Order: sequence, then C-alpha cells, then structure tokens
Amino acid sequence: MQIRDATDKDLPGILDIYNEAVLSGTAVTNEKTVDLENRRQWFESLKEQDCPVLVAVGDDDRVLAYASYGPWRPFDGFRYTVEHRVYVREDQRGGGIGRAITRELIERARAAGKHAMIGVIESENRASVHMHQQLGFIHVGQLRQVGRKFDRWLDITLMQLTIQPRDGHPDAAS
Ligand SMILES: CC(C)(COP(=O)(O)OP(=O)(O)OC[C@H]1O[C@@H](n2cnc3c(N)ncnc32)[C@H](O)[C@@H]1OP(=O)(O)O)[C@@H](O)C(=O)NCCC(=O)NCCS
Repeated sequence: MQIRDATDKDLPGILDIYNEAVLSGTAVTNEKTVDLENRRQWFESLKEQDCPVLVAVGDDDRVLAYASYGPWRPFDGFRYTVEHRVYVREDQRGGGIGRAITRELIERARAAGKHAMIGVIESENRASVHMHQQLGFIHVGQLRQVGRKFDRWLDITLMQLTIQPRDGHPDAAS
C-alpha cells in the first residue's frame, strides 16, 4: 500500500468509494450518487485552493482509500483551519488504511502551516470517532439533528486536532 497525491486517473476509484458511502451509510449525508464530472470539479476546486487530495493505492494502483481537506469556513480569518474527510473502500476497512492516510493528511496540513483540523462525524460512526481519538483529535462539540438521511435525523460530533508546528510558522504558531 502506498499513499500519494491523487491524479485525474484516480477519480473513477474515488467516485466508486464516494458513491458506495452515499448509498450504504451516513458518513456522507447526501442521498444522491454523483458522476465522474462531479468528482472532477470537486478535485479541481480543491487543487485551486491548494488543498491536498491523497489516495492510498494497492500494488495494482487500485484506489483503496482517499482523504482530503478543504476550508473550514469561507472567511479569511479561518484560513488556518481546515475540515477533512477520509473514506476507505468497504472491503478494505479495519486494516489500518484509514489511520495511515489520515496521519499523512495531518502532516500535509502541518507542512502547509495549518493550525486546526476539524472532523465533522456522524455521531454513530464509532469507527471514525475511535480512529480520530487515536490520532489525537478531541471531542469539541455535539450538534443535534442537523442532518437528515434515510428518513431520520443525524447528530454530528465535532472533533478537533490542534496542530503543533514542527519548525515554527510565522502566524500559525501563536
Ligand atoms: C472510518 C474509517 C475511515 C476508518 O478507517 P479504517 O481503515 O477502517 O480504520 P483503521 O483500520 O485505520 O482503524 C482505526 C481504529 O478504528 C478501529 N475501528 C475500525 N473499524 C471500527 C468499527 N467499525 N467500530 C469500532 N472501531 C473500529 C480499529 O480497530 C482501529 O482501532 P484499534 O487500533 O484500537 O484497533 C473507515 O472505516 C471508513 O472509511 N468508513 C466509512 C466512511 C467513513 O465513515 N468515513 C469517515 C467520515 S468522518
């Protein structure tokens, strides 16, 4: 397994993972699947904002997982804070890939001078809450019935990692 920056060629694999998450669970709150053009626009938009999209690939270069971050809120004062997501292929979960790719994403955020990462997690998603705790994220908030999917309300757990710069960053350290 290798973790690297995603390219256009990874978009069909990313699309499969995303649509599977749409159809089968509540990690993605949307109920409608999307097409390749939708993922291409999402990818281009993140690239334009200097935000990483990482993939974990197997020996055959098949996408096993992906992770990305984007702006937390679209205001200049929040420029050191990002919201991230991570999705592992259904048949690859529980093998350490989610933790590994999120760890690499944290390093990318640190290298980019980011100060805080926020995970917006459906509250019953025990795997995600557990994995984020392992990586040093702490529970910072609970939102009640803010999402709706499969005809029921979803609560959201907010988890945050405050990133300590390794070799100092002029603004983000203070
Ligand atoms: C959540 C997710 C990213 C975790 O990635 P993963 O590769 O399955 O998890 P890992 O194998 O790296 O495991 C990390 C930890 O979580 C635990 N874990 C994994 N699945 C679990 C589950 N269903 N319930 C409880 N803990 C679980 C692992 O045991 C491990 O902890 P341990 O070292 O104490 O045993 C992945 O399961 C996934 O993509 N799920 C669907 C989409 C999703 O929920 N994305 C997150 C949106 S916020």
